[in-house]
Amino acid sequence: MTKSKVFSHVFDEETLKNVNKLQGDGYIGNLLGPIGTGKESYVFYSENFKGRVVAVKIHRHNIDTFKAIPSYIRLRGKNTGGFIKKINDWTRFEYNFLSKAFNIGINVPEPIRCYENIIVMEFIGAEGRPAQPAIKDSDFDSNEWYPQIIDYIIKMGRNNLIHGDLSPYNILNYNGKPFIIDFSQGLKLSSLTKSFLVRDIDNINKWFLSLGYKKIKESQEIIRDIDENL
Ligand SMILES: Nc1ncnc2c1ncn2[C@@H]1O[C@H](COP(=O)(O)OP(=O)(O)O)[C@@H](O)[C@H]1O
Ligand SMILES: [Mg+2]
Repeated sequence: MTKSKVFSHVFDEETLKNVNKLQGDGYIGNLLGPIGTGKESYVFYSENFKGRVVAVKIHRHNIDTFKAIPSYIRLRGKNTGGFIKKINDWTRFEYNFLSKAFNIGINVPEPIRCYENIIVMEFIGAEGRPAQPAIKDSDFDSNEWYPQIIDYIIKMGRNNLIHGDLSPYNILNYNGKPFIIDFSQGLKLSSLTKSFLVRDIDNINKWFLSLGYKKIKESQEIIRDIDENL
């Protein structure tokens, strides 16, 4: 099968149109990789017209995703329109959360462009080889990472941002530094969404406990550090 046939086999017509649009505008070139495939998204790498390597995350127009997200979208206060619009809104939320994290100085891929169901962002890695999630590449200094990641959670929280799916699967080890990815389940912090923040903190504590570290802080203490009134 030729490359274009593979893509048309995998992607629906709407997605192919969106890929073409980003190619026509010079944000991406041919899709190479893929570097990540899940039930709900594909991530490729590509080169833009300036020769910069970028990561391209495409949310599939997948009926299973759709089943999972309505309640979540309700928490975000937006649940209108047809199926494709909902996936596009979902993508836009992810892009906005990623942008917010980038703007407050968290180590995340630089956001470059969001179009319909596609996010173009900085590629974390070198020479076409993506940095690996910490679950697969544990060659890092936990003494540094643990407090740093807790600081990130606090900083995001003080800026009303919850990652929502924080775990060693969504933290890339790039040159020994943690890069947080995948804001697809991001939420604004409020009393309604606090439990998602607690879950993120518990996941990180559990992970470092499993690596033999003593808990730095209980989740309740961290929450108080973020906002005394929560
Ligand atoms: N900016 C990036 N640079 C390098 N690799 C990435 C980047 N974004 C995602 N990946 C790779 O793609 C995989 C899936 O991306 P992710 O955003 O976590 O999507 P999903 O929602 O499917 O979990 C990641 O585990 C990582 O290996
Ligand atoms: Mg992920």
